Amino acid sequence: MTNSSTPASKVLDRVLVLEMVRVTEAAAIAASHLIGRGDEKAADHAAVEAMRKAFDELEIDGTVVIGEGERDEAPMLFIGEKVGGAIGSGPKIDIALDPLEGTTITAKAGPNALAVLAAAEEGCLLNAPDVYMEKLAVGPGYPEGVIDLSKSPTENVQAVAKAKGVEPSEIIVCVLDRPRHADLIEELRGIGCGIQLIPDGDVAGVIAVTDENTTIDIYMGSGGAPEGVLAAAALRCVGGQIQGRLLFRNDDERARARKWGIEDLDKIYTLGELAKGDCIFAATGVTNGSLLDGVKHFKGGKMTTQSVVMRASSGTVRWIRGEHLRGETGGD
Ligand code: FBP
Repeated sequence: MTNSSTPASKVLDRVLVLEMVRVTEAAAIAASHLIGRGDEKAADHAAVEAMRKAFDELEIDGTVVIGEGERDEAPMLFIGEKVGGAIGSGPKIDIALDPLEGTTITAKAGPNALAVLAAAEEGCLLNAPDVYMEKLAVGPGYPEGVIDLSKSPTENVQAVAKAKGVEPSEIIVCVLDRPRHADLIEELRGIGCGIQLIPDGDVAGVIAVTDENTTIDIYMGSGGAPEGVLAAAALRCVGGQIQGRLLFRNDDERARARKWGIEDLDKIYTLGELAKGDCIFAATGVTNGSLLDGVKHFKGGKMTTQSVVMRASSGTVRWIRGEHLRGETGGD
């Protein structure tokens, strides 16, 4: 039994590590019914509703710090919304979530769509506004400071190549396939790097640098700032380095950041500033990808899911394969 006097760190351990997977499983299963149906909104809505409902089963006093948007633009899982089955009495936990990371991927049945969330003690996840973030990440095993967002892509590739003991031309960089990355791609091609272009889904893209099997060495480029915090939470658990800098397209976005208490708009955030303290990261695959298999549907309504849940303080990574006989996750 937990209550508000139970230290959040203990709750993260005892209650949340496995319980959080039920939440991402529920969102992934709900979204999976809409894979390849060409309807991004419906897929996202299904995942949001299922995740919101699954939170009710958790004995926490949760606050969404990264969610579906601000209160006036998101009906559920908005920033500041309280979630959990013990609001007001349970331990206070901050939650960053993306019920469907990769709405377009899901609509098109492409790779790497995930249901994802991170949970941490109050105040440990950066309250990032929904703007773009420039990101630079490498996996574990490199000397601290090997990457530096204030340096050029070429300098970063050279530094990582030197630390890895290979030529820059042997480095593989993962980049979101977007017109805004044309200069970055040209510069990387100029030094002979391999570039893995991904259509969407930079949470999985960043996490790919931590897995040698992906052969990706560096993640570079801009994507959503909330996704940057989620990816940082994962790297906090499994090791690696990430830096991020918020990017603003207009004064409205700058004002939104100031409202969030961000004063230095050019600040480069380190991993410890994006996600600090103990935290848990959980993800369930919606479609097949580099990190996780997607939801599979079998005869008789049986489904399988693959999830991963990681904890920063212990470094434990658990891979969980779920079989869902009635097409649901709760109750067992
Ligand atoms: P959605 O799940 O909101 O569709 O986000 C997918 C995504 O690819 C993220 O992984 C990434 O951070 C962001 O979109 C990039 O934004 P944009 O598509 O505007 O380049």
